[in-house]
Amino acid sequence: MNQNAFLKLMLITMLAFATSVFASEEKTTLATPAIAKVDPAKGEELYTNGDQTRNIIACVSCHGAAGNSTISLNPKLAGQHLAYLTKQLVNFTEPSRNNAVMTMIAKGMTPQDMSNVSAYLSAQVGKPGAAKNKDLVEMGKRIYRGGIASIGVPACAACHGPNGSGIPALYPRLAGQHQDYTVVQLTNFRSHVRSNSPEMMEISNRMSDQEVKAVADYVAGLK
Ligand code: HEC
Ligand code: HEC
Repeated sequence: MNQNAFLKLMLITMLAFATSVFASEEKTTLATPAIAKVDPAKGEELYTNGDQTRNIIACVSCHGAAGNSTISLNPKLAGQHLAYLTKQLVNFTEPSRNNAVMTMIAKGMTPQDMSNVSAYLSAQVGKPGAAKNKDLVEMGKRIYRGGIASIGVPACAACHGPNGSGIPALYPRLAGQHQDYTVVQLTNFRSHVRSNSPEMMEISNRMSDQEVKAVADYVAGLK
């Protein structure tokens, strides 16, 4: 398939899927709280030192220097889109994204803190990762680029971009993310531990464990 045909196919997949989830997607759009002025320097301060008086553990201890986590279950946050990061921090305070540690931390944060730290992180440069499993990575690539037509899984590239850089504001960057973290998220979408995305719940529900592992490995190597 030449590149034009590939792009067309992606667009069609994206439109078809977007139409089917449009109604639910509207509900998940974040109503932005009133923010005085976004201050990335204050965000960096909080990221580096946390705030013990509000149960905010220093983010750097888990998410690494400048958002480049080196621990495979803790996501890299560097270069992630601002609106997506803010949405996740809000979602951790609601039942739609369950994680004990992040819920405690997010509940200590004000909307201003969330915007500041997200602005800081989105301006950092993500360090590349690598795919690890030669046997699975080809399968992962096929799924990422073309989906799995027989079971109605759309191409990930349609929403997350051909290089995994995402499409602001709704579609997060996946490129370079740790495979282990991505596997946990797809599993959590499937079990509704994470229920903040109707489209991802639907997509992950159709995939086998092996398909999840394969696509997560491929994503880790995207640049
Ligand atoms: C004790 C470790 C720890 C600390 C400290 C921590 N995090 Fe996290 N964070 C995690 C883990 C683990 C996850 C994955 C949660 C899940 O599986 O849903 C996560 C997820 C996130 C996400 C979602 C990322 C995505 O791609 O969806 C954001 C945003 C985030 N953390 C921001 C922060 C910020 C900002 C701070 C500091 C104010 C912080 N975290 C402190 C462990 C930590
Ligand atoms: C129709 C659009 C669409 C398609 C197709 C799609 N995604 Fe997503 N994906 C989303 C949206 C929207 C989010 C953000 C959900 C939120 O706001 O929490 C997301 C989030 C994710 C996340 C969580 C990222 C993080 O940092 O926690 C992962 C992992 C993911 N998608 C993987 C995939 C994979 C793998 C595929 C292909 C099998 C895929 N997605 C296909 C729309 C899509």
